[in-house]
Amino acid sequence: MVVSLALAGLALRSGLALRRSRLGRTVRKPDARRAHLRFAKPAVVLLSLGFFGGLGSALWLRGWDVFGTFHGILGLFVIAFFGAAAVLGHRIETGRSQHFDAHARLAGVAILLSAIAAVAGFVLLP
Ligand code: HEM
Ligand code: HEM
Repeated sequence: MVVSLALAGLALRSGLALRRSRLGRTVRKPDARRAHLRFAKPAVVLLSLGFFGGLGSALWLRGWDVFGTFHGILGLFVIAFFGAAAVLGHRIETGRSQHFDAHARLAGVAILLSAIAAVAGFVLLP
């Protein structure tokens, strides 16, 4: 999870660089979009694996209730926002959408909630 959150952080950084160039504040590097996708895609895949791993572990190894913790509920929102950002990001990538602001906002909320989830996850560690 630490690795996937670090990748998501790098995705945010490269995404914000794209945003600055889109708004004309900087000149865009030719491979800037590729750099963003290089971090963003693995981050979303690893976060999804971690989500289901945490859920499986809580259910089958610990015998907890489904989403019985604050961390678990937050995790649900985190994965929903990252999922929505990824779907919209993919539509932008394939030219089917121009909703850059919405993508950036969804991703921003996802990152913020995941930071809170990370803090709330530490108390659950064995
Ligand atoms: C699979 C997941 C994702 C895909 C396919 C994707 C795709 C894209 C694409 C195609 C763009 C537009 C790039 C351009 O202007 O050339 C973009 C922009 C951006 N992305 Fe992503 N992205 C994904 C995940 C993320 C994540 C995880 C974050 C942050 C944590 C993020 C943050 C941003 C930001 C801030 C922008 C700039 C938006 C703007 O110009 O206002 N993206 N993304
Ligand atoms: C560094 C950050 C994180 C730490 C230290 C952490 C730690 C944990 C721990 C210790 C558990 C209990 C599982 C067990 O040991 O049996 C857990 C469960 C879980 N985690 Fe995380 N986690 C982190 C980040 C995340 C993130 C970002 C998500 C969402 C994408 C997430 C989603 C979940 C879910 C859904 C559960 C199941 C809890 C339940 O059903 O109530 N975790 N996590």
